[in-house]
Amino acid sequence: MARLSMRSADIKPSPVREMLNVSQRPGMISFAGGLPSPETFAGLALPPPPRELLQYGPTEGEPALRERIALDLAELGLDTSPDRVMVLSGSQQGVDLAAKLVIDAGTALAVESPAYLAALQVFRFYGARFQIIDRSAPGAGWGETPPSMAYVIPTFQNPSGHCWTAEERQAMAAACRARDVILFEDDPYRDLVYAPCDRRPVCADMAGGSWIYQGSFSKTVAPGLRLGYLTASPDLFPLLVQLKQAADLHTNRLSQWMVLQYLNDPGRAQRMEQVRDLYRRKRDAFADALTRHLGDRASWTLPPGGLFFWLTLADGVDVEVLLQRCVERGVLFTPGAHFLAEGGASSTMRLNFSLAEPEAAERGLAVIGALLRG
Ligand SMILES: Cc1ncc(COP(=O)(O)O)c(C=O)c1O
Repeated sequence: MARLSMRSADIKPSPVREMLNVSQRPGMISFAGGLPSPETFAGLALPPPPRELLQYGPTEGEPALRERIALDLAELGLDTSPDRVMVLSGSQQGVDLAAKLVIDAGTALAVESPAYLAALQVFRFYGARFQIIDRSAPGAGWGETPPSMAYVIPTFQNPSGHCWTAEERQAMAAACRARDVILFEDDPYRDLVYAPCDRRPVCADMAGGSWIYQGSFSKTVAPGLRLGYLTASPDLFPLLVQLKQAADLHTNRLSQWMVLQYLNDPGRAQRMEQVRDLYRRKRDAFADALTRHLGDRASWTLPPGGLFFWLTLADGVDVEVLLQRCVERGVLFTPGAHFLAEGGASSTMRLNFSLAEPEAAERGLAVIGALLRG
């Protein structure tokens, strides 16, 4: 039998990737993934890239793209510069690099619950032990031995859609600074904003502390390009570059070039406005359909941004059984239990509203509502 590492013994199939496979079946209505609407790709005019980009490139990324990203990040209040920006092969890579940097078997990690499930999966893989963050009193419970790192998505969280208040953001930064906890802020949804909300990065208030801030072009440009970026405090940045070098040498240069064209396009702001308008309309139509079909069976709040509704069903509803019955009828969603850091059962579910056309969303929600009514 092949001799594998101890951590490989714990590898489990990803529930989301499995569902993505099911969602490819013809006719499926999927609320399960976090896929952008293909309509948003239509406004992208991407010319063919220069041939010299077929050569190997720098680990940190293309200099012109790093410069452009640094300008945008500095405007958000982050203490950064082009030489402290690294382009990633998707922001999922940033999760992996941060985990490699910080986590040994048993390392304490502060996370929200629910939290982004593919990050929880990576952290578990490296052996993290989770402490749940209380947003109203972060740091309360950190006691003698605070966690090594806190992982947060303060703006339009995946899966809850929640956006932290200014006070919650300041309290989190203060707690991390006071106890030398690395703050890892994951911010892929910040530009998908549909209602006023404080979006100042928590890392902007981490002066003197250790922090990692990352973003993604997956939700605003195209996920198939696999492009994200991070910036970090000076103590961590060079270490993350070395880990990236060991992982993949550098990010795809053709994608970097394409995204740079997009960022420098004078039509960029207008295109983002159109993307936000489209998603706001989809969110509102989805909320109406939810009220019609699940209004008496579930509760939720209207997400001010991002791509998801988080639903709480009556106690005792077996969401896994509901999912199986939905799949038989061609409808997919993600059970909320997958997002819980502490594990266990949950009568919650995450529904993505960006992918399905309104008419399909209506049909899919009608199926879920009918099954819930028995
Ligand atoms: C919170 C969060 N972080 C990271 C990612 C990974 O995104 P990507 O690798 O496409 O940039 C996602 C994807 O849905 C996400 O929701």
